[in-house]
Amino acid sequence: MPYSDREELMKQVKGSLPYAAILWLWAAALLPRTLGQCERKPVIFNFGDSNSDTGGYAAAFGVTFVLPFGRAFFHEQNSRISDGRLLIDFLCESLKASYLSPYLESVGSNFTNGANFAIAGASTLPTFKLFSLNNHILQFLRFQARSILLASKGYPDQVTEEEFKNALYVMDIGQNDLSAAFTYLTYDQIILKIPTYIYEIRSAIWSIYQSGGRNFWIHGTGPLGCMPQKLATTAPQNATTDYDPVGCLVPLNNAAKEFNGQLKALCEELQSGMNNITIVYVDVYSVKYDLIANSAKYGFENPLEVCCGSGGPPYNFNQNVTCGNSGSTACDPRQKYVSWDGVHFTQAANFVIASSILSSNFSTPRTRLNFFCNG
Ligand SMILES: *[C@@H]1O[C@H](CO)[C@@H](O)[C@H](O)[C@H]1NC(C)=O
Ligand SMILES: *[C@@H]1O[C@H](CO)[C@@H](O)[C@H](O)[C@H]1NC(C)=O
Ligand SMILES: *[C@@H]1O[C@H](CO)[C@@H](O)[C@H](O)[C@H]1NC(C)=O
Ligand SMILES: *[C@@H]1O[C@H](CO)[C@@H](O)[C@H](O)[C@H]1NC(C)=O
Ligand SMILES: *[C@@H]1O[C@H](CO)[C@@H](O)[C@H](O)[C@H]1NC(C)=O
Repeated sequence: MPYSDREELMKQVKGSLPYAAILWLWAAALLPRTLGQCERKPVIFNFGDSNSDTGGYAAAFGVTFVLPFGRAFFHEQNSRISDGRLLIDFLCESLKASYLSPYLESVGSNFTNGANFAIAGASTLPTFKLFSLNNHILQFLRFQARSILLASKGYPDQVTEEEFKNALYVMDIGQNDLSAAFTYLTYDQIILKIPTYIYEIRSAIWSIYQSGGRNFWIHGTGPLGCMPQKLATTAPQNATTDYDPVGCLVPLNNAAKEFNGQLKALCEELQSGMNNITIVYVDVYSVKYDLIANSAKYGFENPLEVCCGSGGPPYNFNQNVTCGNSGSTACDPRQKYVSWDGVHFTQAANFVIASSILSSNFSTPRTRLNFFCNG
């Protein structure tokens, strides 16, 4: 990340516990050391939901996220549902790659280092919708075919066939499938439905592989039961047994873990069954859960309380008055919150999450992010 932003983040930690400050210094020092050096230009294609939407939803629906969205970094209207950068932005920074332009963004986009097909609200099912993974794969296949066609006609700055082959294909999807399922299915029904979500991810990886892609970076889903939105709107079946010691909803987290177990198994199966493929599964659940469970260690307060929302403790989340709507307020920018709006993480949280992921401690097989742009 640019040095000035590291300094800005460091400023945020001044005044907090010395131990937390030391950890932050350590975290800030970690990113440059793990900076992926690339021999080849890193080209990245991303598929997912709002966790990695850098502007697809805003472009598709013609909406603008005004301040306080973007206040920690962009300082102006931008198209991310957070106060600043997302995990995918930090991953790009670590490779010295530009942020990914949304596929649907017609103004100011630059696709020379890839494209972002993620869109807020996206899920694996139902298929053939603006919000579905299989639709994003169709968009990608069209993008690829047209890039190669235009390059053959001499158009400059197109991603080449070779670059499509060497590119990294990133996926972070499933949270909305589980989240929606909990509104109309029982726990047992949800568990039975998980293989249908995994099947869609398998199809997506297969389509990209068929069209030449060889390098995949697959994020597991996060701890759904720790989301303030879920905590504030879910009536527990049993108030004693439904919460873990951190205060998260056990059934929702168990469903996320089941999803991740199957996703990891899929990655391992494809890795061993397909020729010349590198498919890395990243245990994002553990990274995010660790941040929430040990938030004080990272200098955060109230990990289950929303920065930008309404209603006050314990969650500061009211689904009728969410961040950005009149009646909501944002926390003091000097306070460090994990959750921005009840669903999405703050930039400060995304920074910690990115640092952990870039350590490669959570990757199976243990692989550095820059594996695809070297060798
Ligand atoms: C697009 O971005 C690349 C770097 O990723 C840069 O080299 C190129 O000049 C940019 N193109 C335009 C038209 O801005
Ligand atoms: C394997 O994949 C890489 C891209 O990661 C590609 O450059 C190489 O040509 C492929 N090798 C074979 C034997 O297909
Ligand atoms: C909640 O679960 C505990 C432990 O299984 C049990 O003792 C208790 O009766 C349950 N409470 C309700 C309201 O079902
Ligand atoms: C949200 O609005 C609905 C419909 O007006 C109302 O029934 C509900 O109580 C409100 N929820 C909260 C948390 O204020
Ligand atoms: C990664 O693992 C190593 C060795 O276990 C440990 O020293 C390091 O602190 C870990 N880093 C992160 C970010 O988890």
